[in-house]
Amino acid sequence: MAYETIIVEARGKVGLITLNRPKALNALNSEVLAEVVAAVNGFCANADIGAMVITGSEKAFAAGADIKEMQAISFADAYAQDFFVGWEEFTRARKPVIAAVAGYALGGGCELAMMCDFIIAADNAKFGQPEITLGVMPGMGGSQRLTRFVGKSKAMDMCLTGRMMDAAEAERCGLVSRVVPAGELIDEALKAAAKIADFSLPSVMMAKEAVNRAYETTLAEGLRFERRLFHSLFALDDQKEGMAAFAEKRKPNFANR
Ligand code: HXC
Repeated sequence: MAYETIIVEARGKVGLITLNRPKALNALNSEVLAEVVAAVNGFCANADIGAMVITGSEKAFAAGADIKEMQAISFADAYAQDFFVGWEEFTRARKPVIAAVAGYALGGGCELAMMCDFIIAADNAKFGQPEITLGVMPGMGGSQRLTRFVGKSKAMDMCLTGRMMDAAEAERCGLVSRVVPAGELIDEALKAAAKIADFSLPSVMMAKEAVNRAYETTLAEGLRFERRLFHSLFALDDQKEGMAAFAEKRKPNFANR
């Protein structure tokens, strides 16, 4: 598929998606949505790929949903189209997706980063939900995911004042998993993804599924679900190989990548 708004490459076992609308600071229009979802689905279906990284430019991961595209939309159309529900397909990716965020991650950009499995931030990253300044509010998960990441007080602060959070604050409050120098962002994200892609793919996918389940169920049900997945991994050669390699003091060679 020829992409217009993103660059899609395989770097070894890692699928790299780069948002590429530099003139609009990678604002997320309907074309970006369709292309990102197609690229992710393609990597999920590709047996040679074990993990993905999604990134933007040094200035902007994404400065939000495309305001110029949204501007004229009516309530009737927004409701009828269930505007932006398409991004839910992105969150159904079963292989891990890391967001590598430099510069602005605002509105839909911050929400896209939060849809990923974890966020690695460059030291120049700025996160925010500025929709309130446009007379609207978050619409791609900002009021829900941000609250789960950082708690009510900070989520309210971000959504009601529209202020930005820098990378240090984002790491302090648990929005991002690590902060790295801007020049090392892509290498660090690719290294993390390559490490994941070298593990047993079923173990990786089940670990992702189990962590995500923590958001959707009670602790008792989540623990039961985790145990059942854990048990099922003993049906795979990868468990035998991983544990034998530990006992024999060598690196494991997993078959189910
Ligand atoms: C469309 C955008 C855009 C956006 C920037 N641009 N953000 N176009 N949608 N979200 C365009 C600008 O219009 C401009 O185009 C070019 O990108 C460069 O932007 P500047 O503003 O000139 O850059 P700068 O002065 O460096 O300021 C950067 C910025 C600012 C602080 C990030 O661009 C900004 O505030 N952008 C909007 C951020 C925002 O409100 N995001 C939330 C969107 S709502 P021209 O043609 O003039 O050069 C949202 C809702 C999600 O995300 C949920 C929906 C259901």
